[in-house]
Amino acid sequence: MFRIEGYRVLVTASTKGIGKGIAKVLLQAGATVTVNSRSRENVERAVNELSRLGTVYGFVADLTRRGDVEALVQKAAEAMGGIDSLVYVTGPPRPGMFSEIGEEDWDYGIRLLIKSAIWVTKEALPYIRSSGRGSIVYVTSVAVKEPIPNIVLSNTLRIAVHGLAKSLSRELAPHVRVNAVLPGHIMTDRAIQLAEDLAKRTGKTLDEILAERAATIPMKRLGKPEDVGYLVAFLISPYASYITGASIPVDGGLLTSVF
Ligand SMILES: NC(=O)c1ccc[n+]([C@@H]2O[C@H](COP(=O)([O-])OP(=O)(O)OC[C@H]3O[C@@H](n4cnc5c(N)ncnc54)[C@H](OP(=O)(O)O)[C@@H]3O)[C@@H](O)[C@H]2O)c1
Repeated sequence: MFRIEGYRVLVTASTKGIGKGIAKVLLQAGATVTVNSRSRENVERAVNELSRLGTVYGFVADLTRRGDVEALVQKAAEAMGGIDSLVYVTGPPRPGMFSEIGEEDWDYGIRLLIKSAIWVTKEALPYIRSSGRGSIVYVTSVAVKEPIPNIVLSNTLRIAVHGLAKSLSRELAPHVRVNAVLPGHIMTDRAIQLAEDLAKRTGKTLDEILAERAATIPMKRLGKPEDVGYLVAFLISPYASYITGASIPVDGGLLTSVF
């Protein structure tokens, strides 16, 4: 694999699933990484596991709380001696149709899916700007291009992050590159939890649900968290020095739209 030796990267919401897969690949490529999530136990477990691969720090912070986000960025910058790249991942929103989502869910969803991105970007940007090789990667979902049934919060709110990414890519060029990555169905705790819910509601087994899902994907399998990590590592690296303002799916061909 190509190397991004010594790059200092903050990956948010990264003690499990997609975020952890990204952290793993970045460490394998030689980066120094800070991981984060809300639970101390999850942070400690992830740091223990990932430290076999390289230099990794971990801090507890809830991305829906502005004070937590500010403290996270300051601690990450202090621990790593600066921040070259921010990889923004956030926690999964509550599933549900429009008719099931109340006012409080929308308010929480806005903090989880939009405000967290704004806050972490604002705090990390001074470090990223001064890095000389800075970049930002926002990890969202294929739902921003083709809405997915039963996750109206994600379908609606994540689009704002793409507005932010595109605006910043113009505002910060040529010094900082800004891109977005759209995962499709990726095999994580969260994906299994959603499949279990569906299995209960339909009377099917978990294996049947997962097999049905895989059958809808042209590559005939769910993605691995590392599949997302390889693209993120490339986007951070100098090999992507002419790529900014892009939104790239990692979905095994799931999206059917041309653009
Ligand atoms: N899996 C998929 O197929 C898929 C596809 C497209 C998009 N996505 C999106 O990608 C993101 C990651 O999904 P995933 O499948 O990797 O989920 P996951 O396996 O449940 O992992 C979520 C991670 O985020 C952390 N987290 C949750 N809420 C947080 C918060 N408020 N502040 C800080 N950290 C938080 C969790 O740790 P703690 O519990 O310790 O906080 C955990 O480390 C989600 O936004 C999800 O909706 C997932």
